Amino acid sequence: MRTDMILHLGLLFCLGAAAAPTSSHNNDMQHPLLTENKNTIIIESSNHKQILVPGHNDAFYGPIPKAQQIFDIEFLEIAPSPILVNKYFFILLRGEIPPSTRQKLHLEPSDVANATLSITLSAVLEEGNRKQEARTYTIPLRTAELAEEAHLGIRNATGAYVDYLTLKGRNDILTDNWIPGPFVETGTWTFEIVASLTKDKNEVCLFALTLTQWLEGDGGW
Ligand SMILES: *[C@@H]1O[C@H](CO)[C@@H](O)[C@H](O)[C@H]1NC(C)=O
Ligand SMILES: *[C@@H]1O[C@H](CO)[C@@H](O)[C@H](O)[C@H]1NC(C)=O
Repeated sequence: MRTDMILHLGLLFCLGAAAAPTSSHNNDMQHPLLTENKNTIIIESSNHKQILVPGHNDAFYGPIPKAQQIFDIEFLEIAPSPILVNKYFFILLRGEIPPSTRQKLHLEPSDVANATLSITLSAVLEEGNRKQEARTYTIPLRTAELAEEAHLGIRNATGAYVDYLTLKGRNDILTDNWIPGPFVETGTWTFEIVASLTKDKNEVCLFALTLTQWLEGDGGW
């Protein structure tokens, strides 16, 4: 059903490239200023500030600022990091919506049951330094098989697998995934992952992460 969706990225990469604004964080990281306090690592450069996500990963908070994200990330593990094509990679994101936030927003199970996950993909391709048009795919933030090689799972605070995020304590969000190399064009890829829910007609961001990395494809179509 969702073979063309989000975490199963394969088919997306063979879609035509077009001129579109694509941001690469690499340029901003040439002369970084690093500050560290209370588990928060901030990289500052002349034009902006990026906050690293705790854990073994190369992701930053964004595009929605960390201060607007209500899911408090304890850590994010991505293995292997950077991600390789033609190999499984695994993601474990642990965190929680703090009790004070749950109360303040009057969050109900039906709010988190209807949460969504969007991935926006863009790239600067090696060949001709072309920019790959940004594309966004949205799926429910729920335990599901996305494809044979791509699953999304959610656990509650006591380790039970559940259908969607719970409002009692921490949650683990897990994925196993595989990017087929033949569909990938080599270049610097940016993945923007935004989880959100709608409360009283307002969009509330759970978390927003940006990962930029080199992907070595098998050619592309
Ligand atoms: C999703 O939201 C709709 C209303 O927007 C609500 O009726 C439904 O119960 C929610 N889904 C779940 C699983 O709670
Ligand atoms: C986690 O889910 C299991 C199974 O539904 C339940 O028994 C357990 O109480 C839940 N834990 C929490 C902290 O909600």
